[in-house]
Amino acid sequence: MRIPIILGTAREGRQSEKVAIYVFGVAKAKGIETEIIDVRDYRVLETDNTGTSATAKALAEKIVPADGLIIIMPEYNHGYPGELKMTLDLLFKEYTGKPVGVCGVSNGPVGGARGVQALRLALIGMMMHPVREAVYFANVNDLFDAHDDVKNKSYDKLVIGLIDAVVKAARK
Ligand SMILES: Cc1cc2nc3c(=O)[nH]c(=O)nc-3n(C[C@H](O)[C@H](O)[C@H](O)COP(=O)(O)O)c2cc1C
Repeated sequence: MRIPIILGTAREGRQSEKVAIYVFGVAKAKGIETEIIDVRDYRVLETDNTGTSATAKALAEKIVPADGLIIIMPEYNHGYPGELKMTLDLLFKEYTGKPVGVCGVSNGPVGGARGVQALRLALIGMMMHPVREAVYFANVNDLFDAHDDVKNKSYDKLVIGLIDAVVKAARK
């Protein structure tokens, strides 16, 4: 199973990078073939969804062979980051039928739940299949220790559950 992880913000000082690295570690430990796709590497002005630009082709090389995707999405103003949408909008047909799991991130108590719901609608518009499961990384500023290890180990089970849901959907 190949399930890349999209790090959905380019923000300087982003906490979501810690979440992405943590989820990457959990996926690897489960034997999932994965890598982090960083939206910082796909910021362009030539956005179109025909997949013809060099940046789009570079993204397609990672998306096409994927069985599914995990997206790490910090909530910005009850929505998802613009740069995440700009990256996703580089492609369209390449996403068809791929299951996708979303991890919300926020420094508030609901872990980006509103943004996750909004993102799911956009993902459906891209012909992806968002799974029902999600993980909400709440109060993210206090979630990782000085070594960037997650302090609350109950997240392991939640992340494994999300990956399992994506794998199950990919096998259907
Ligand atoms: C533009 C912007 C908008 C934000 N909007 C929200 C919000 O709607 N809800 C929320 O809980 N936190 C919000 N926050 C705070 C984020 O939860 C916090 O910055 C968190 O660390 C986001 O992940 P990041 O560090 O990877 O950007 C916002 C932060 C930014 C930069």
